[in-house]
Amino acid sequence: MDALIGWIGGKRLLRKTISQYVPEGITGYIEPFGGAAWMLLLKDRWADLEVYNDLDYRLVNLFLQVKYHPDELIRELDFMVASRKLFGDIMKQEGLTEIQRAARFMFLITRSFGSKGDSFGTSQKRGTSSMYNRLDRIKELHKRLDMVIIENLSYEKVIEKYDTKTNFFYCDPPYMTGYTYENSKLFSHEDLFNKLKNIKGKFILSYDDNPDVLKLYKGYSTKHVTRTKGINRKEGKSEYNEVIIANFPLEDK
Ligand SMILES: C[S@@+](CC[C@H](N)C(=O)[O-])C[C@H]1O[C@@H](n2cnc3c(N)ncnc32)[C@H](O)[C@@H]1O
Repeated sequence: MDALIGWIGGKRLLRKTISQYVPEGITGYIEPFGGAAWMLLLKDRWADLEVYNDLDYRLVNLFLQVKYHPDELIRELDFMVASRKLFGDIMKQEGLTEIQRAARFMFLITRSFGSKGDSFGTSQKRGTSSMYNRLDRIKELHKRLDMVIIENLSYEKVIEKYDTKTNFFYCDPPYMTGYTYENSKLFSHEDLFNKLKNIKGKFILSYDDNPDVLKLYKGYSTKHVTRTKGINRKEGKSEYNEVIIANFPLEDK
């Protein structure tokens, strides 16, 4: 299924490419940097154990409310029409309950320009997206999350907690260049490297393709991939070079 929301750095366009490298026979599938969970949601089930984690509580709270209170969340969202005025009001309003906070977060992300949550966005071509489709997707995601463990930890704790020989980690950290998440201003890529180098399980890491990433992960199995993002009539096709890194041989299927 598709993710419920867009997310900066989300792997909507790369998830099929990455998924072909996920090893067979894993007992656990863990995403320490879950975001909107595009990879997790690509399949109905990856393994007996599935873990979604993110440091951002707004995301985690949305997943928790979808998992435990889908009907109440839908009820809150039902009143939230695509309106610039409402967007401005909701931005200022503090949530009273966790369900209301989840609804407001989902509204702001889905109705904003570039899924950033800070300014009302509409498309001159497509108008606005349907909220009804999303309400249906809440029900679908509710079922998908039935056996998924939801954590709200920093990645190193999740890795420590779930690291076994047969568990697999898909790591999609903040990139070295480009957008910086509010919670990632002090993110240390060296610390992540040091954490991953000693794990028992297997990992795949996705990053921006730049010399510092390649230097840090020299000697690891690496695939260079290109993500094409839309076609803008003024600027033509925009392509981003990304890299997939693993602690096992990456073989094309
Ligand atoms: C590139 S995004 C992940 C996108 C995700 N793969 C998707 O498809 O939506 C990186 C995520 O890492 C999270 N993050 C940043 N620092 C973190 C940390 N120390 N531990 C766990 N998550 C962290 C951010 O909140 C952000 O959601």
